[in-house]
Amino acid sequence: MNYKQLGNTQVKISEIGQGTWQYRGGVEPLKVGISLGATHIDTAEMYGTEETVGEAIAKERGKVFLATKVSPSHIHHDDLIKAAEGSLRRLDTDTLDLYMIHWPNPRIPIKESMSAMEELVKRGKIKHIGVSNFSVNELKEAQNALKSEKIVSNQVEYNLQNREIEEELVPYCKKEKITVVAYSPLARGNLPDNEQVRVLDRIAEKNGKTTAQVILNFLTREENVVAIPKANRTEHTQENCGASGWRLSNEDLREIDESF
Ligand SMILES: NC(=O)c1ccc[n+]([C@@H]2O[C@H](COP(=O)([O-])OP(=O)(O)OC[C@H]3O[C@@H](n4cnc5c(N)ncnc54)[C@H](OP(=O)(O)O)[C@@H]3O)[C@@H](O)[C@H]2O)c1
Repeated sequence: MNYKQLGNTQVKISEIGQGTWQYRGGVEPLKVGISLGATHIDTAEMYGTEETVGEAIAKERGKVFLATKVSPSHIHHDDLIKAAEGSLRRLDTDTLDLYMIHWPNPRIPIKESMSAMEELVKRGKIKHIGVSNFSVNELKEAQNALKSEKIVSNQVEYNLQNREIEEELVPYCKKEKITVVAYSPLARGNLPDNEQVRVLDRIAEKNGKTTAQVILNFLTREENVVAIPKANRTEHTQENCGASGWRLSNEDLREIDESF
């Protein structure tokens, strides 16, 4: 497993993490993933999977980079503090490695939310502040609302069917040292059955990898991008971990780039 720098920090996080939206796999797949180095675990108060994650990481908390999110309806100051305490309790831990605003909420001033985030950092309840589904402008506003902390990451949709973030967001985040966390990297398991996929199959065969591994490797080709596939099945978790630790050639990258 390859590890990448989180934002502007000295912390390293696994290039392939483990998502838990609609996760019903129990503790086993998550534990196997951790043992294979996929120590970045992603959840959210909204997912209803925090308890399972807490159980899966209980004996390995020190190894894990634990990330969760506050729902956009809970980002008034006091609600956000309360939401963080709820997540800490369900995850059965003293501190979160990354706490994110799940979606922007234009009805609540970002300054108010970010002041609560900074309080949580000061109290040791969270280590780093992140956001999710924020545009470049929303990111700038969030950063400007912070007094002493920096936004370390933005979690956004990124897969071969939706490469929109490559235009503006990824270059901006690279410049500002913000990690991009790619969600739904396997397009929720819906790979189209067409000529494009056959390109991937061919590249996979040539490299002795699977199609899913080629996709994840392609998506994480930039130094500031990591991915968090979800897998209910342990075989999928194992396969996804094997997407890291090697790199597609420039020729393969170009071919995928041109096909999608
Ligand atoms: N911030 C946000 O707003 C937001 C939104 C959506 C998702 N997320 C995060 O991103 C994570 C991942 O996204 P996602 O769950 O939407 O979709 P995804 O990871 O793109 O796809 C998950 C689907 O792919 C299948 N799969 C996993 N590994 C596979 C492999 N190696 N080969 C073939 N199929 C494979 C899974 O099957 P099995 O389950 O049967 O193994 C599941 O059906 C979420 O769990 C969540 O943590 C965040």
